[in-house]
Amino acid sequence: MSSTASAAYPLPSLSDGPAGLMLEEVPLATLAERFGTPTYVYSRAALTAAFRDWQAALAGRRSLVCYAVKANANLGVLSVFAQLGAGFDIVSGGELARVIAAGGRADRVVFSGVGKSRAEMRQALAAGIRCFNVESAPELERLNEVAGELGQRAPIALRVNPDVDPKTHPYISTGLKSNKFGVAFGEALELYRRAATLPHLRISGIACHIGSQLLDPAPVAEAAAKVLGLVDQLSAEGIVLDHIDLGGGLGIRYRDETPPSVAAYLAPLLAAFGDRREEICFEPGRSLVGNAGLLLTRVEYLKHGEEKNFAIVDAAMNDLARPALYDAYHEAVAVCRSDAPRQRYEIVGPICESGDFLAHDRELALRDGDLVALLSAGAYGMTMSSNYNTRPRAAEVMVDGGQVHLVRERETVEALYAGEHLLP
Ligand code: LLP
Repeated sequence: MSSTASAAYPLPSLSDGPAGLMLEEVPLATLAERFGTPTYVYSRAALTAAFRDWQAALAGRRSLVCYAVKANANLGVLSVFAQLGAGFDIVSGGELARVIAAGGRADRVVFSGVGKSRAEMRQALAAGIRCFNVESAPELERLNEVAGELGQRAPIALRVNPDVDPKTHPYISTGLKSNKFGVAFGEALELYRRAATLPHLRISGIACHIGSQLLDPAPVAEAAAKVLGLVDQLSAEGIVLDHIDLGGGLGIRYRDETPPSVAAYLAPLLAAFGDRREEICFEPGRSLVGNAGLLLTRVEYLKHGEEKNFAIVDAAMNDLARPALYDAYHEAVAVCRSDAPRQRYEIVGPICESGDFLAHDRELALRDGDLVALLSAGAYGMTMSSNYNTRPRAAEVMVDGGQVHLVRERETVEALYAGEHLLP
């Protein structure tokens, strides 16, 4: 039934039932009937298990796991993590508003990103966030000014760029000299000295993040060693940090990757950390949500071309951009058993672009009207979706045991142009 060589699905709460694929205790076919397609479906059990893995691996240490909201910003998802005691890594004022709307604690929020506006700084200071991860010298000066205007001291960490190659897709590697991210490692010391003289800043920590979908902890350990060296150098000068944030990046299995467990990923980092007094923080996104979600879609047409067979489904690149953007692989699984002949299909959407594909060359037994699940779609799926071709964005549903919660309604076409105006 699955086109994967391995028996187990990357999403642990997915199983084969008499009515086809089930997520926790709910058949996917029931969800498609009730909410239509395309729909993103998440498993609360999988989200919880992923977060608990991080907590367990850090047990007994002063630590904070800040979920990277950009991976999946749905309020239902955020509320699950807020209830588990998570912190949050945000990159915009919009994400901060979501965290607070979902019941997250502002004093557990770290604010990353190279382009923070004055308005976003004011919003974050008013909310009382835990730390600004400052990414440049001009940002440092601006933050000092804005905090001064509000009569506050802004807590800061410098996000340093350790110039380590994470060996991942070039679009998602962020820790190289050539990237726009962070403060050059060689300039960090000088910038901390400058920060220490600014009256409206309070130096709190240091941060680094070198890339995403990492399958090997070695580059992160290398970056961590550099960062720890810098922390000691700072402390010798009397600049004493309270926390060390080693970013996100842990990869997941999409196809046949064998990512380390959270514990194995953290082992070399924690070993390097030893019994240091600073709090250790992380910003995982993908590893918390990626394999907790799937995109449920229905076959509109089977089209047999001269060279290829196409399964044209009702989800498209506007719903799941990763295949078109990164040539990313998502497992495609038929939801119900079918006596249709197994054939190799290009799984494509209705959008008018040749780049609108979701999966290449997958062997599946399909008839039109059948449901297909695209797996490992919980991270950077819905958050990167768009309205291209005036397609309303998908609904989002959270399964919790036998219960089902609609966590985002399907968009309506009217809502898409509600803010637009005709000319007289
Ligand atoms: N912290 C910072 C500063 C980041 O830039 C990122 C991701 C994270 C944490 C979370 O990283 P994660 O644990 O999810 O790897 N759209 C791409 C991924 C872009 C990642 C951007 N930054 C994709 O779909 O693969």
